Amino acid sequence: MTTLVVVSHPDPQSLTQHVARSTADAIRDLGGDVDFADLHAESFDPRFAEADVNLFRGKGTPPADVVAEQDRIDRADDLILVFPMYWWSMPALLKGWIDRVFVSGLAYEFTPGSEFVKKLDRLTVHLIPVAGDDAESFDRHGVYEAFRTQIERGIIEYCGATLGSTTFVHESDTKSRDVLAAEIHDLSESIASRVAYPATATSRRRSKTVNWRLTGTWPPSSEACLPNGRGCATTDQLGARYREVPRTLRLPYANPRWSRRT
Ligand SMILES: Cc1cc2nc3c(=O)[nH]c(=O)nc-3n(C[C@H](O)[C@H](O)[C@H](O)COP(=O)(O)O)c2cc1C
Repeated sequence: MTTLVVVSHPDPQSLTQHVARSTADAIRDLGGDVDFADLHAESFDPRFAEADVNLFRGKGTPPADVVAEQDRIDRADDLILVFPMYWWSMPALLKGWIDRVFVSGLAYEFTPGSEFVKKLDRLTVHLIPVAGDDAESFDRHGVYEAFRTQIERGIIEYCGATLGSTTFVHESDTKSRDVLAAEIHDLSESIASRVAYPATATSRRRSKTVNWRLTGTWPPSSEACLPNGRGCATTDQLGARYREVPRTLRLPYANPRWSRRT
């Protein structure tokens, strides 16, 4: 099983990058293959330029940098997007990656008979947004609903991919480092358990995807299964590793305050 972890943050020492690396490490520790795409470090160009417009209009071929990203998606069974919340949405760098890479041919297609075909149905996507604000504020202002509409439904489900999970990390600037470290540890382990294990039993298949926001308990009571039933791990398998991993978070900076919206 190969997982493509995509992170959008310019600072390799940031909380967001820490979340991405912690998740990638947890997947590797469970035996999964990880392709780590650091969009900023790799200087991905998010500008939707002339070649991209031409492609959208059915002319020309995808630019080489887009083809390279599409190849990564082709190789992946799971895609994990890790990003800070900017203006109640995703950073422009990640949005540009989606605009340019999730194009006709890879993500969707119209057949000659004009039938719309969703093409990413073999992919499961996990979202990890990191936010300065707290969950109560997001709820009150309808940010979760907007996120569901724009990103989960408007992008992932539009292309036919399965939404594996959405896990918000809240209060990046006010929570104690220990609390954040514990949350990141738990979410890394939980997502890793969902993506690293190959299918073992169809009887465990579940039809509904699971959407959770750090409310789950860990280790799980009996077994951890992929939300789409593609794999399961026993508590013993996961718990053994869980106990060995230290819960530490050392960032060389203090997160600046993001003012709460009233
Ligand atoms: C341009 C910008 C816009 C932001 N918009 C929001 C926002 O709408 N909601 C929010 O909760 N936090 C917002 N923040 C705060 C970031 O989400 C927060 O600083 C980040 O998640 C902290 O993680 P980091 O240390 O990895 O940067 C914003 C920060 C920046 C720089």
